Amino acid sequence: MGSVSTDEAMRRAIVLAARGLGTTSPNPLVGCVLLDSRGEIVGEGFHAYAGGPHAEIVALAQAGERARGGTAVVTLEPCNHTGRTGPCTQALIRAGVRRVVVGVTDPNPVAAGGVETLRAAGIDVELGVRSVEAEAGNLAWLTAVRRGRPYLIWKYAATLDGRIAAADGTSMWITSEAARIDVHALRGTVDAVIVGVGTVLADDPRLTVRNLRDGSLAIRQPLRVVVDSEGRTPADARVRDAAAPTWVATVDEVGAGPDGKVDLPALLAVLYQRGVRAALLEGGPILAGAFLAAGLVDKVVGYLAPKLLGAGPAALADAGPRTISEVIDLEFTDITPVGPDLRVTAFPRKTEG
Ligand SMILES: NC(=O)c1ccc[n+]([C@@H]2O[C@H](COP(=O)([O-])OP(=O)(O)OC[C@H]3O[C@@H](n4cnc5c(N)ncnc54)[C@H](OP(=O)(O)O)[C@@H]3O)[C@@H](O)[C@H]2O)c1
Repeated sequence: MGSVSTDEAMRRAIVLAARGLGTTSPNPLVGCVLLDSRGEIVGEGFHAYAGGPHAEIVALAQAGERARGGTAVVTLEPCNHTGRTGPCTQALIRAGVRRVVVGVTDPNPVAAGGVETLRAAGIDVELGVRSVEAEAGNLAWLTAVRRGRPYLIWKYAATLDGRIAAADGTSMWITSEAARIDVHALRGTVDAVIVGVGTVLADDPRLTVRNLRDGSLAIRQPLRVVVDSEGRTPADARVRDAAAPTWVATVDEVGAGPDGKVDLPALLAVLYQRGVRAALLEGGPILAGAFLAAGLVDKVVGYLAPKLLGAGPAALADAGPRTISEVIDLEFTDITPVGPDLRVTAFPRKTEG
């Protein structure tokens, strides 16, 4: 293979990093490409799971002696601390790497300081290479660490006129099997799935990640969270089965907000402490409205079916705005057909700091 530029190597490292999606929490996605002194790729790695080797270590092991005098291209600043594995900075120094190219610096105070350590050891460090893509690839983790709470994606399925159930309460199935398969893939990328007790009482959902064709469960299941002020979740609810871990979050455990219901920022703080970095809020309209009103939603994914209902509850109950000037402003970033439906992705222009 010929030599590649550090820019090309960073593009490759970002692709590698994405392979860890859904399995690295509470750690970030990280990819690393090692170039020898002539710029040829001699090692590649990504962080596959928490507790497993970091991307740099995998790439260094592949490169062996060929790393000496070479360049490490890493999507995230190499860690500087001893957690479940040793600091990557020391491994890079020991390997004799001459230069380290970093996409994004690490906002995690525990792991930060890698750049200074490398520079102090005489290594040339370049920051901010393809930083926009590197940041986008790790958006959920970076946002979670900066805010000290999980990155929250609100997902809903509705008719084109925004109804999530008919007037008589029936709602299965508004969207197609293709859209539901897509939702299971989305669930597979997060650490927790959150619903209100209203959804459990109405639909008795499983909230697992599974193959819809044969019902088989994915190996890794997100934590199922039911937000349930008074503990009304029935003992025989499907979310309480053994298929995945479940937490029924009550006021007694989490504390109450001003409305006497489960305190939502406190709930997210507990989830963060438990290692949840990305969570999928699956409704229903009352809980989703409350999270949006609190400015706690980072991303919206709507599945829209080419159907109309007219009467029936809307995807959102009260989300705060009383007049049009208070509207929650979003920006569309993606619209993808999924079977007969549309998957629409949007980001609120403003969430809490
Ligand atoms: N199409 C879709 O995407 C979709 C998704 C989900 C649900 N649904 C539909 O939504 C309907 C259920 O709607 P829902 O709005 O009653 O369900 P929900 O939003 O899942 O649950 C609402 C309940 O959550 C509890 N809660 C606890 N803390 C809260 C807080 N801080 N703020 C707000 N609520 C809090 C409240 O009950 P307590 O006061 O007892 O705690 C509240 O009544 C069903 O018909 C279901 O089919 C549709």
